Amino acid sequence: MNNEKFVEVKNLRKVYDNGYEAIKNVSFSVKKGDLVCLLGPSGCGKTTILNMLAGLLFPTSGDILFDGKSVVKTEPKDRQIGYVFQNYALYPHMTVLQNVMFPLTVGKNKKSKEEAEKVARKYMDLTQITEFANQKPGSLSGGQQQRVAIARALVQEPKILLMDEPLSNLDARLRLKIREEIRALVKKVGITTLFVTHDQEEALSIGDEIILFNDGVIQQDDLGQNFYLEPNNYFVANFVGNPVIDNFKVEIKDGKVIGSDFELNLDDFDNSRFKREISDGQYILSVRPENIQPDENGHFEAEIKDVELIGRERILKFDHEAVQTRSLVNLEVPIKAGDKVALKMRLDRVFLFTPEGERVY
Ligand SMILES: Nc1ncnc2c1ncn2[C@@H]1O[C@H](COP(=O)(O)OP(=O)(O)OP(=O)(O)O)[C@@H](O)[C@H]1O
Ligand SMILES: [Mg+2]
Repeated sequence: MNNEKFVEVKNLRKVYDNGYEAIKNVSFSVKKGDLVCLLGPSGCGKTTILNMLAGLLFPTSGDILFDGKSVVKTEPKDRQIGYVFQNYALYPHMTVLQNVMFPLTVGKNKKSKEEAEKVARKYMDLTQITEFANQKPGSLSGGQQQRVAIARALVQEPKILLMDEPLSNLDARLRLKIREEIRALVKKVGITTLFVTHDQEEALSIGDEIILFNDGVIQQDDLGQNFYLEPNNYFVANFVGNPVIDNFKVEIKDGKVIGSDFELNLDDFDNSRFKREISDGQYILSVRPENIQPDENGHFEAEIKDVELIGRERILKFDHEAVQTRSLVNLEVPIKAGDKVALKMRLDRVFLFTPEGERVY
């Protein structure tokens, strides 16, 4: 058994019939029992990948291996996959119990009615929907219906669970609760799970690991914190982080980083963080808002336009190079709109990107 690469995707491509290349040479692997998030903006190819894993869509080229064996020529029903679709797709005329039992009452692995009910009830207990057994889905809340869909995906005891934006129809509070439940459940059952979302916070909170896509290409495949602390490129730095990262156009010349109203010395940057030799030219200096703080020895001065409270912290908004820029400060910092503030960037935490988005620092 290949536990390290329980699911392996190799050089996968998908060109749709209209010629559109939705997936461009994608390779990744998932460890047995891991919960991996596929994250990315709408249209980046997340569902296309799940559909190829499930066998609903045939790859243009490349390979998909489960436990070391290629499955691209295997029928969906023989892949031992559970799939929770975005719209729960429950049968409205059946009760919750009948919905959950359904996969066990059809096809070649059909069980006796008694046996099917026993297994169904086990997963209904795990997903806490036993009390709704005799109700129709229409009388349940979104979160309850979601749990029915999960129980139905689990009854065949699949080896791999695919979930496509399963929480997108729920309100914020319920999303938090159900994502914790999903994580606890998949860890308890020990099932290898690919969870699709376009919500970075959801991915960070639920995933053992995250694969971030854009435009059919993997941008970063990593542990959650690294998307924040060590983004691979400009896209990743800007996709992950709330409030979003601040970006300043700078010119690097003769060892100086020159912005519209600040000048930094490259010597003051952390030498160990340079990815390569930097030649003079145009770059983007990107700073997470908590790494720009009011400081008497600030790099530049700005007038605070607006102050927004978010929980324990406040966002100071100001215009810099005519773009809205943010500083994330502690609630106690006594600054109000209209104040002129000197602001300092943490140079050991900033990033430098080329105009093409390559990270050089
Ligand atoms: N049958 C199809 N024919 C042609 N293009 C398609 C087809 N299905 C999807 N696409 C295109 O492929 C790209 C990837 O689609 P996909 O559904 O995988 O995106 P996604 O990441 O799941 O997006 P979302 O977050 O909106 O669900 C999109 O640009 C989409 O327009
Ligand atoms: Mg999708």
